[in-house]
Amino acid sequence: MADAAWIRAVAKPAPVAWLRMLLLACALAAAAACRPVSEPVRFHAEGQPATLAEWNLFVFEDGVMTPGAGVVPYDLNTPLFSDYAHKLRTVWMPDGKTARYDDEATFEFPVGTIISKTFYYPRLAGEPADSDAVLRSQGGEGALPGGRLELDKVRLIETRLLVRRESGWIALPYVWNREQTQAQLMRSGELVPLTLVEAGAGDREQATYQVPDQNQCAGCHGTDIRSKTLQPIGPKARHLNRDFDYRGADGAVVHGNQLQHWQSLGYLQGMPAGDGLPRIADWRDEGESVEARARAYLDINCAHCHSPDGPGNTSGLWLGSSVDEPLRLGRCKLPIAAGHGTGNRRYGIVPGHPERSILTYRMISKDPGVMMPELGRSVVHREGVALIEAWIAAQQGTCGEAG
Ligand code: HEC
Ligand code: HEC
Repeated sequence: MADAAWIRAVAKPAPVAWLRMLLLACALAAAAACRPVSEPVRFHAEGQPATLAEWNLFVFEDGVMTPGAGVVPYDLNTPLFSDYAHKLRTVWMPDGKTARYDDEATFEFPVGTIISKTFYYPRLAGEPADSDAVLRSQGGEGALPGGRLELDKVRLIETRLLVRRESGWIALPYVWNREQTQAQLMRSGELVPLTLVEAGAGDREQATYQVPDQNQCAGCHGTDIRSKTLQPIGPKARHLNRDFDYRGADGAVVHGNQLQHWQSLGYLQGMPAGDGLPRIADWRDEGESVEARARAYLDINCAHCHSPDGPGNTSGLWLGSSVDEPLRLGRCKLPIAAGHGTGNRRYGIVPGHPERSILTYRMISKDPGVMMPELGRSVVHREGVALIEAWIAAQQGTCGEAG
């Protein structure tokens, strides 16, 4: 292959060119060292590829789904609740490109960035791949170090992409087939009936998992209603500042801090040195205060809408982790609209009384006109509600005689 052709093949790996590269690599290497390499990730600067496979983010080998070369798995200290779905998140950036660190806001990502989030459930022991009954758990079943998934232990539902193009971020929902061999672009979303089965007690609950349609992505990711553009929500210093089990070149587990890992890969620049980086609590960590856990929960589950610029700004309720004005957080706050959405409760938060607070009323509701978040769940997050109830129950004071 002439030099020029080689360079083009690297820059624009078409299947044939890639095969040629692979053969060449094998010819150059000793036969024993010649192993299949994953195809490089493909950034599509335009259009909406019909299948997830066209992005080459994942490799399927020996029944395991593995992030491809340069595709870095990550986790959040506290995630968004989505009907108990488990989530595998990954980030990829083109060679030589890097994101810019920020203490508070979402990092500024370069054109070419692809962020993915795969929603899956652990399977029940003995249930076939296409069973609607899945495990309701908050553990790590089916996941291996390095962001890998054991396909015979999980039911894949959907993979969502946020792709940074010249013109801004574009959101793409891909839905997996029952054989778990392909995920197809579903711009109009999909409803997936599920039965969530609790391990041990065996308690069963019906859920109608909703893959959002493409417009609904903006309902949460349009975090700045003035600019009307999409933004990632999770990749902020406080959410990413935690450890992750990576997989080293030899397959061994390498435990490391996510922010430092991104920096060492060249995926992050401008990060201050030292230990004082922002970090939000893990909502399940009982070693943390209820206050810290509740505020982390509200930050990731609510604040993308409930902020001065977000789609929930008309409510006047700001739920971000840096808000310190009690009234803004709902304490003794009268709702903007009375009646239906309040359950005839008077204030957002009545200190000491979760059963009289609108905040919990709306988290417990499944009525589409009442429930919070408005999108993204069909069942109640019992453990999340219990945390917010405990937080409100511990608050001192009153809202005056009518409180
Ligand atoms: C109910 C609100 C909501 C809707 C609707 C929603 N998202 Fe998100 N999304 C979030 C939140 C909150 C996070 C960060 C928390 C997490 O990942 O657990 C997130 C994370 C992501 C991520 C990982 C990067 C990031 O922003 O943190 C991707 C990719 C993504 N969403 C894509 C989509 C796509 C595509 C759609 C539409 C099909 C969509 N989302 C619809 C709230 C939503
Ligand atoms: C997808 C955007 C979105 C998300 C996510 C969201 N909200 Fe809301 N919320 C709204 C909008 C819009 C309103 C105003 C209209 C209404 O009252 O329904 C609102 C209103 C409310 C109100 C009434 C506020 C008042 O004083 O009138 C409460 C309480 C509330 N939300 C709590 C929550 C909580 C708690 C969460 C997270 C667990 C949450 N919301 C997540 C969009 C959202």
